Amino acid sequence: MSGTQHVAVLLEEVMELLRVEQGGRYIDGTLGGGGHTGALLERSAPDGRVMSIDRDPSAFHRVRPHLSSSGNRWNPVHGNFADMAALALKADFVPVDGILLDLGMSSDQLDDGNRGFSFQADGPLDMRMDTTQGLTAADLVNSESEQGLADLIRRYGEEKAAGRISRAIVREREREPITTTGRLAGIVERAAGGRRGPTHPATRTFQALRMAVNDEPGSLARGLEGALSLLRPGGRLAVISFHSLEDRDVKQCFREHEGRDVSLEAGGSRWEGALPRVRRVTKKPVVAGEKEVKNNPRARSAKLRVVERKDD
Ligand SMILES: C[S@@+](CC[C@H](N)C(=O)[O-])C[C@H]1O[C@@H](n2cnc3c(N)ncnc32)[C@H](O)[C@@H]1O
Repeated sequence: MSGTQHVAVLLEEVMELLRVEQGGRYIDGTLGGGGHTGALLERSAPDGRVMSIDRDPSAFHRVRPHLSSSGNRWNPVHGNFADMAALALKADFVPVDGILLDLGMSSDQLDDGNRGFSFQADGPLDMRMDTTQGLTAADLVNSESEQGLADLIRRYGEEKAAGRISRAIVREREREPITTTGRLAGIVERAAGGRRGPTHPATRTFQALRMAVNDEPGSLARGLEGALSLLRPGGRLAVISFHSLEDRDVKQCFREHEGRDVSLEAGGSRWEGALPRVRRVTKKPVVAGEKEVKNNPRARSAKLRVVERKDD
C-alpha cells in the first residue's frame, strides 16, 4: 500500500488463523499502515465489516485514501485498543469473529524523526503514539527521579546498566534539560560504556521509555481482556508481539483464560481459570519464515499467538 512504509508481518498466517471469511465482523486494534486491515476487508468482501483502531491520528491520514473505497464496511476509530470493548459496544460492533493486535510501532512512526521514537534520527524527544494527549518522553526524562528512571529502564528495557544510565541522565539534565533523541542517545551510549555488539547501546533505554510513555503493558492487559470479551464463541484473537516482555504477558493472559482442571478430593475435577474460556490455537508462537525475514527484517522478532473463544 503506498502512503506507508510499513510492511505487514505474518499477513497470510494471520488471515488463515483468524479464518477470515465473507461476511465476517473483524477488529484490527492496530491499524498502522493498514496492511492487515486491507487484507481483512478484501477477504471478508463483499459484506464483511472491519473496525480499525489506532492511537496515532496520522495513521488514518495515511491509510484513509486507500481504504475509503470500502465505504461503510470500514469503520476507522481513533483511540486506544485498551478501550476496545467500550468502542465496539458504542458502535454496536458486537459480537466479533476475529480480532488482531499487531503491537509496537509502525515503520512510518519509527522513520519519522519528528516523532522521537528513533535514536537513528535526531528529533524532539516525544515518543507519544497518540500525539493529541499525555506526557512526552522529554517530560518523563526531565522530571522522574533517578530511582524511578532506573526502575523503568531495568523493568521495561531489561537493561543491566540501568543504574549508570539513570545517574548520567540526572547529571546531564541538571546542566540543561534533555529535549532531543540525539542528546539522549549520546548520554546513554557513554553511560553504557560505548558500542559493543551490533545493537545500539540506547536500544533498550529507548524501548523502555516508549513503553512507559504509552503505558504499553497496561494497554495490552486491558486490550486483551476487552478483545476476549467481544468475541463470539468460536471467534479468534491473534496477537503479534515483538519483544519478550509483551510475549510473556500475552502468553500468561492466554494461559489464565485457558485455565486448568483441578482434581477434587471427592473425585472428579473442576475447571479453574479466568472467563471467558479460550482454547489455544497455536501451541507455540508462529514466527516468520526465512523469505519474509529477508524481505522485511522487522519480521525477525515477530511472534504470533492465537486463541479461540469457547462457550463458557
Ligand atoms: C506494528 S503497527 C501495526 C501495523 C499494521 N498491522 C499494518 O499492517 O500496517 C502498530 C500500530 O499500533 C498502534 N498502537 C500501538 N499501541 C496501540 C494502542 N494501545 N491502541 C491503539 N493503537 C496502538 C501504533 O500507533 C501503530 O500504528
